[in-house]
Amino acid sequence: MASMSISSFFVLLLVRTASAQLSSTFYDKTCPKALSTIQSAVKSAVSKEARMGASLLRLHFHDCFVNGCDASVLLDDTANFTGEKTAGPNNNSLRGFDVVDTIKSQVENVCPGVVSCADILAVAARDSVVALGGPAWTVQLGRRDATTASLSTANSDIPAPTLSLSGLISAFSNKGLSTSEMVALSGAHTIGQARCTSFRTRLYNENNINASFAASLKNSCPSSGGDNNLSPLDVTTPNAFDNAYFKNLQLQKGLLHSDQQLFSNGSTDSQVNTYSSGLATFRSDFGDAMVKMGNISPLTGSSGQIRKNCRKVN
Ligand code: HEM
Ligand SMILES: *[C@@H]1O[C@H](CO)[C@@H](O)[C@H](O)[C@H]1NC(C)=O
Ligand SMILES: *[C@@H]1O[C@H](CO)[C@@H](O)[C@H](O)[C@H]1NC(C)=O
Ligand SMILES: *[C@@H]1O[C@H](CO)[C@@H](O)[C@H](O)[C@H]1NC(C)=O
Ligand SMILES: *[C@@H]1O[C@H](CO)[C@@H](O)[C@H](O)[C@H]1NC(C)=O
Repeated sequence: MASMSISSFFVLLLVRTASAQLSSTFYDKTCPKALSTIQSAVKSAVSKEARMGASLLRLHFHDCFVNGCDASVLLDDTANFTGEKTAGPNNNSLRGFDVVDTIKSQVENVCPGVVSCADILAVAARDSVVALGGPAWTVQLGRRDATTASLSTANSDIPAPTLSLSGLISAFSNKGLSTSEMVALSGAHTIGQARCTSFRTRLYNENNINASFAASLKNSCPSSGGDNNLSPLDVTTPNAFDNAYFKNLQLQKGLLHSDQQLFSNGSTDSQVNTYSSGLATFRSDFGDAMVKMGNISPLTGSSGQIRKNCRKVN
């Protein structure tokens, strides 16, 4: 330290201030058991039902794309409050709220009033991916919870499965995420399920869908009815966080219209090829992009609150 010049001290200070909003050590003093408590609850939920890992990962995404990662997605509707749960992309689709409640109450037991619901979602997303064999990354912490939510922003800003490649690129660019990060993050669809209603139009009206894949999907997703029937987003290894999603796209086996857009003779084909043959590259890029997504407009300092119950404002 004595050998450190005055100018390098100020450079360091500047760099730290610029990125000091969130920190990986945020709870080290105030709640040293926070991360291990969340991790064991996620492990137990995912071992009971593998899909829960997918559902928890998606909650963090749908939180971050609406007014930043502030746990707005978790707020229940009441007589005088409208949350985001009935927005088109969320209604009858988002799940895992009860698991988040369990995690929150366990964390409240070890350190009451300290750990935000927004941070719980960020850590649970990482732990879910790890539990299904995916990459680990260091989660940045210190987000606080919103006292508001936005149904209209949930409807407008969460990308729809009907989007074209340029629509997907814009939706992510609007949140400060690059095209390359969008492709990496889409690899989340290597786990989890979608309802028939989310891919019926692709199944019955599109040409760039693998014929044998389409034929098998039609059994559980008829041209009318069965809206809530589920099919895996990754037909090959639905419960493993691997790069099979990208291999499927090369065979025209993307389930959603938006999935196949990433490999439809457009500018992102080459990145799909890279991830399809390079598992390690995908893992590393996915972790980096998750950190970036987790940094979208967090509430820090004295804004927001630490909710006691993730479903309602204190
Ligand atoms: C690129 C734009 C995206 C679109 C258009 C999109 C759309 C969708 C749709 C329509 C579903 C199925 C919902 C249903 O039928 O109930 C779904 C599921 C899912 N999405 Fe996305 N998504 C996108 C990006 C992401 C990202 C960035 C993540 C996370 C990093 C993610 C994680 C998931 C997961 C894990 C599931 C399965 C959830 C479960 O089984 O409970 N998605 N997505
Ligand atoms: C909403 O209504 C509840 C009682 O139903 C009341 O306790 C609460 O203060 C109200 N919240 C607002 C923001 O008006
Ligand atoms: C949400 O889904 C329920 C069925 O579970 C339906 O009755 C309701 O109309 C839907 N809400 C919106 C806003 O679409
Ligand atoms: C469709 O899937 C089959 C079986 O996996 C594969 O052999 C074939 O190449 C695929 N077709 C296209 C157009 O990718
Ligand atoms: C890409 O172009 C090839 C050759 O022109 C065509 O056979 C294929 O269906 C196209 N793929 C997609 C996904 O549109």
